[in-house]
Amino acid sequence: MEIIIQPTAEAATSVAARIIARLLREQPNAVLGLATGSTPVLLYRELIALKLDWRKVTTFNLDEYVGLPPEHPQSYHSFMWENLFRHINISKQNIHIPDGNTKDIPKFCAKYENQIQAAGGVDLQVLGIGTDGHIGFNEPTSSLASRTRIKTLTPQTRKDNARFFGSEDAVPHHVITMGIGTIMEARQNLLLAFGQGKAKAIAEAVEGPITAINPASILQMHPVTKLCLDEGAASRLKRADYYRWVFDNKPGWQRW
Ligand code: F6R
Repeated sequence: MEIIIQPTAEAATSVAARIIARLLREQPNAVLGLATGSTPVLLYRELIALKLDWRKVTTFNLDEYVGLPPEHPQSYHSFMWENLFRHINISKQNIHIPDGNTKDIPKFCAKYENQIQAAGGVDLQVLGIGTDGHIGFNEPTSSLASRTRIKTLTPQTRKDNARFFGSEDAVPHHVITMGIGTIMEARQNLLLAFGQGKAKAIAEAVEGPITAINPASILQMHPVTKLCLDEGAASRLKRADYYRWVFDNKPGWQRW
């Protein structure tokens, strides 16, 4: 794991945007895994401003609420179109977001996995993290080998996401999410986390044991995972000074 601590969310986002921009310039047909929620909003804004060429890029979103119509303002379909897709030159047929209204969820999930494989696998997966350590919507105790499937949100996650829906009651209980096994197959993972509210989940994921109680901790087993954190999210890391030194002293060839 490479832990990149920056003074602000904006600075941490800029590092992440540079990593993605470099990938898209070097590999114009890259396959990106994308996340939603409040964390990547700045990232998408920065990527839009960079005016990259998205024509050959393929995207797969991590998750979607079950039962929300795609045009619902809080669906992840709406989120992605509003925050990224309508501002870039991506081909519509290259965009994949789980269908939360599919009649046959297991069949849809198997097809989603096949589509990822057929596209050549995910080159870079953008991740946020829940206050309970979830990645995608793989809640604590999710199988660390799980594939795309339906999951039930924990009361904590529904409480955290009530801010988007106006009330906790309005937050759907069910989601379709890529599994942890799916995420672990991405060639690179890029996790962003901002604010003190994420500090505990980050400290456990980075410096705690690998456990399904903190699903993000499995990223310790991933060969190329970068975490872009602001000071708040990094505030409970015991070895923060070491991570800072490593980043500040990277050999030139390792920079981007
Ligand atoms: C959303 C997703 C979730 C969020 C997480 C954090 O696609 O995969 O894991 O990244 O719930 O959400 P925010 O960024 O709103 O704190």
